[in-house]
Amino acid sequence: MAGLTRRELILAAAAMGATWACAGPRSLRSRSSWVERRDLFAEGVASGDPAPDSVLLWTRASSGGSEASVALTVEMAEDPEFERVVATAPTVALLAADHTCRVLVTGLQPARTYWYRFLDASGHGSRIGRTRTAPADDDPRPVRFAFVSCQNICEGAQNAYRRMIFEDERAAPDDQLAFVLHLGDFVYEVVDYPEEAPGGHRYDRRLRDAVRFPDGEKIAGFHVAASLADYRALYRAYLRDPDIQDARARLPFVPMWDNHEFSWQGWQSFQVFEGKARPAQTIKVASNQAWFEYQPARVRHAGGPSLERFEPPPVRDAPIERFDEQGLGQEPNNLAALGSLTTYRTLRWGRFLELLITDQHTYRGEVPDAREEARPLRSDAFPQLVPEEMMEILDAGRAYAGGRPPETVRYGDAQVPNFRKDEAPQAILGAEQKPWFLDRLRASNATWKVWGNSQGTLDGRADPQNLPPGLGKPWPGAGYACFGGGGDWSTAYTERGEVYETVRDAGITGFVTVSGDRHSFWAGLAAKSLPPAAFEPVGAAFITGSVSAPGLVEALEHRFPTEHPLSALFMTEVGGRKQPMVNLLMHHGVRSCLEYQRTGDAERARRASNPDLAPHLSFLDMGGHGYATLRLTAEAAECEFVCIPRPLERSPGGDGGPLRYRVVHRVPLWRPGERPRLEQRILEGDPGLAI
Ligand SMILES: [Fe+2]
Repeated sequence: MAGLTRRELILAAAAMGATWACAGPRSLRSRSSWVERRDLFAEGVASGDPAPDSVLLWTRASSGGSEASVALTVEMAEDPEFERVVATAPTVALLAADHTCRVLVTGLQPARTYWYRFLDASGHGSRIGRTRTAPADDDPRPVRFAFVSCQNICEGAQNAYRRMIFEDERAAPDDQLAFVLHLGDFVYEVVDYPEEAPGGHRYDRRLRDAVRFPDGEKIAGFHVAASLADYRALYRAYLRDPDIQDARARLPFVPMWDNHEFSWQGWQSFQVFEGKARPAQTIKVASNQAWFEYQPARVRHAGGPSLERFEPPPVRDAPIERFDEQGLGQEPNNLAALGSLTTYRTLRWGRFLELLITDQHTYRGEVPDAREEARPLRSDAFPQLVPEEMMEILDAGRAYAGGRPPETVRYGDAQVPNFRKDEAPQAILGAEQKPWFLDRLRASNATWKVWGNSQGTLDGRADPQNLPPGLGKPWPGAGYACFGGGGDWSTAYTERGEVYETVRDAGITGFVTVSGDRHSFWAGLAAKSLPPAAFEPVGAAFITGSVSAPGLVEALEHRFPTEHPLSALFMTEVGGRKQPMVNLLMHHGVRSCLEYQRTGDAERARRASNPDLAPHLSFLDMGGHGYATLRLTAEAAECEFVCIPRPLERSPGGDGGPLRYRVVHRVPLWRPGERPRLEQRILEGDPGLAI
């Protein structure tokens, strides 16, 4: 609300109905007869998207039943005892919003901690939440925040949040977290029901009976959310997890979705199962509605400024066949579904931080190498590996090689027509979001421009061209291999290049990307290309491990065939136990893997590193879980990875259990024309093959 005149404020408040409260100049002792009844507010409380003078508060009246609306009161205070209440206002939880409730409290002081609670007409109250406003734009104090992604309550425990809360409660005031940036996969819409899985397990995970869809659809072996009621059921189940709920009650969240808030392999309004895309505009709208209802975020919905309820546009699942230049499906129901909720936005914290958050799924084009036509371009002889030059052709489309794309794409003996040769380059951000993002990046005067990006930007690749003869088949590519195919920024070379060229050409410094999605910890430098092309970093990039969802190392432990000729590159036994060789493969290359397999000596393995493979990487752990924090000052950005053991069961203590390691990467602020660099410190534990 910053910047509005008083008249505008009143008008905005009127438009928002019972979802606005303004803090008064004086604080008074609470006059309510609040008695905590967590059972009546079973999903807890939350706050989100703080500004210097305002914050959004959230709860759900969980015993609303069939009542069209439940009258509530919100109280906000400067102290947890509510002796100094600064705002009291009536509000409402509507059945049309699944009895969720959002209130924007304005008139607050910057950089302050506040406490809040909701009460019903009988004085029955929610638990007490704690939140913090953002500092004023010129505030010179350091800022520190956490970033997380990928929590799955059906397959693991949310110990990462418990550890985060434990550490934050004990941190010095300057080091306490300002907020939690949630980069998506807050829920997983694909669920394995325990009774249908062998032994009730997936990988190492005991499947919990935490989510049952009232509607649901069984597809590709999973139960999949198929209605608004299903998505709502998901959020309700996740928010009843004590660690997730406690984290939202202690810290403001800044939420952004990734893929699983809608559909695992979905893009725009398409769901994709077993390689087949189908239009799902109704599901896209349902998932947007549930997200709006359950996430405390200042976002735009097509229904106007109301915070009370989402207004779902009427859509049907119609074929999407016409696409514009950026790959956006022009079918009216698709456009209406995508336009029903707009979540990309910026937030500002003091002098040092501008957070630019983008949406990677709503506007993106189809993943080019996931297309039917690309099927022959894979081989079991080289699992996960795709020739880099092939991916560059598929990414760039008609823009390849300055507008001279090849007629065919080859992979060993296979050759397919270049189905991308007349199409536009792969777009993730899309025609409206990209210029918005680049403009905001150029305009920011914060020291650190942090790109909150649900998908990882750091290239993952391998050097199978360096395999010794006789180890499996000869590599059919011309040089390096991309790891795992396309779909995220690591192979969206054209659009990523455009972002990085903007950073370079505008002389932007302090550019840092924070991401999730990959279920693994990565630290490195942002560069549009790697050797043998020029390596010219323009910023730093960090990716956080999953809170709890299984990662690649766990999948390889269970699924990678031990007799595969390339097992030394992925997962093999060294020194009597299975080792995550894939960490070495992507960071140091095949020669390091083979050296480690031969000697079991990590130092010797790193000396065999291929320096051209990953000059952008400082750290890579494809098996890490936990969370990350970023601390920003005038001099440096410091990213801390807090890695916990595989979270199979809830840790019984209040500290979230032991740590595997704590690693800090420090990026001194660079001047225009200087090259950013990372300094690594291992503070606790042993990251093993991750360095
Ligand atoms: Fe995920």
